[in-house]
Amino acid sequence: MIVVIDGPAGSGKSSTAKAVAAQLQIQFLDSGALYRVATLIYLNSQKDYPTFFDQLEETEISFYFKEKKFHAFIDGRDVSDEIRSMEVSENVSEVASNPRVRTFINELMREAVKHDVYIADGRDLGTAVFPDADLKFFMIADLETRAERRYREVKESDMNVTLDEVKQNITERDDRDSNRSSDPLKKADDAIEVDTSTMMFEEQVAFISNKIEELISSQNKT
Ligand code: CDP
Repeated sequence: MIVVIDGPAGSGKSSTAKAVAAQLQIQFLDSGALYRVATLIYLNSQKDYPTFFDQLEETEISFYFKEKKFHAFIDGRDVSDEIRSMEVSENVSEVASNPRVRTFINELMREAVKHDVYIADGRDLGTAVFPDADLKFFMIADLETRAERRYREVKESDMNVTLDEVKQNITERDDRDSNRSSDPLKKADDAIEVDTSTMMFEEQVAFISNKIEELISSQNKT
């Protein structure tokens, strides 16, 4: 079973999905983290696409969700914190707009969710990666709210970052993610929209958890 949450940066997808996964004891897949891993490999290749593609094929990318955290590894090295740097954030939308990168990450994800119940978050999961997902959500929030949320997170590891820089980064990423030709950020027709601008975090988690539980109990009856 696969449940997906798509939406723009800072709308609350990842934190909500993690809390839902912990509460329902299901798996969580952070697709953005995988694009960030690919971006780290791109930066390590000195931004040379042919070298990057070779390295992407050769590298072992692994990941798991444990104690409310999504852990990602490159050849066994934990890069979970490194992938959140501003340098990665500034390059990730470019790397993610590449169709070859998208095909590679999509394969990784489809393989990962085969054997368990998953909640996954991203930009195009309900439209392109898992069009037959059992449940789809699309999370939105106004720009101010999203920038402030992301600023509070980024500031913990990067003291020099400003709110304006974060706001500019998410505006640019949203623009690029929504307007790229390969699988843009888009609400699936059958996704349930959740506006988190004025919702309490617990409310979002309860809303999504309840929908999943309703689905599981209706499936058990049939
Ligand atoms: O958490 P945040 O919203 O800042 O971003 P993320 O989920 O870590 O994703 C980082 C970037 O990866 C996004 O800005 C997109 O460019 C890309 N991405 C994508 O293209 N498709 C996905 N399914 C997930 C992320």
